[in-house]
Amino acid sequence: MATHLSSLGATVAITGRREAVLKATAEEITEKTGNQVVFAPCDVRDAAAVKGAVQSIVDQSSVPDIVINNAAGNFISPTERLSTNAFSSVIDIVLKGSINVTLETGKRAIAAQKPCVFLAITTHYTKAGSGFVVPSACAKSGVETLHQSLAVEWGRYGMRFNCIAPGPIYTEGAFSRLDPTGEFMNHAIKNLPTGRLGEPEEIANLATFMVSDYASWLNGETITFDGGEFNALAGEFNALRKVKDEQWDMLEQMIKGNHSK
Ligand code: HXC
Repeated sequence: MATHLSSLGATVAITGRREAVLKATAEEITEKTGNQVVFAPCDVRDAAAVKGAVQSIVDQSSVPDIVINNAAGNFISPTERLSTNAFSSVIDIVLKGSINVTLETGKRAIAAQKPCVFLAITTHYTKAGSGFVVPSACAKSGVETLHQSLAVEWGRYGMRFNCIAPGPIYTEGAFSRLDPTGEFMNHAIKNLPTGRLGEPEEIANLATFMVSDYASWLNGETITFDGGEFNALAGEFNALRKVKDEQWDMLEQMIKGNHSK
């Protein structure tokens, strides 16, 4: 998303915990796009550190016009195996981190009279919850509620708030914690109507559209972006996709035969 926005001329600011990673990433993006990328390290859980990072970004560039709330922390675990600290560590990154960033940038945008656009990256299991990633499900639902609420409350400042709820898109950070054996990915691909995972470039395209003026009346929405995965998992009879033509011939005969009884 950062590379795509930079390629379109944005001065992108990136943040994360490790300065060396940020520096290398900023240089990599600038190399590709020719545009300035600023960076400011912080732990998103720490409100004072977020305040310092936002100040640094403002000093290096300006109050942001676009904020992408992409903080994530997640791992698979039976919930009864979680300590309260394990639960809190995900809530603190995802929900409180997004709140820290939104408050700090939102207050500055209001003061500067900038109609800032916010976009959060959540997950489609906010719609139905999901076992084994319960802290993440709770936290990402909170992030969506934050964006829906501020879409209305801060609409009067010209701001827009939306979310993308993606299905599986491979990144090492996520899949090393959610799919350590690789088994989940094979299972997910079988379920996906598109027969493949999403690509980073595809979410970058949608995010760019949603923060642009092409989407200037889109506000308070969450767009599910999953190649049809959520609907495929939900539809009672979707497993019938596995049935072959000759099996359908047999099933049709059986059903019609039953009708004539
Ligand atoms: C049980 C675990 C655990 C595990 C950590 N803990 N991993 N408990 N099973 N697999 C517990 C620890 O024992 C500890 O509790 C507490 O969680 C904090 O662990 P730390 O390692 O000290 O935390 P920290 O270093 O702050 O790391 C946070 C993290 C880590 C969330 C645990 O995974 C992380 O930094 N993740 C960031 C990147 C990431 O997760 N990306 C994936 C996002 S994917 P105790 O009680 O022992 O102190 C995503 C989208 C999903 O969100 C959508 C898919 C479709």
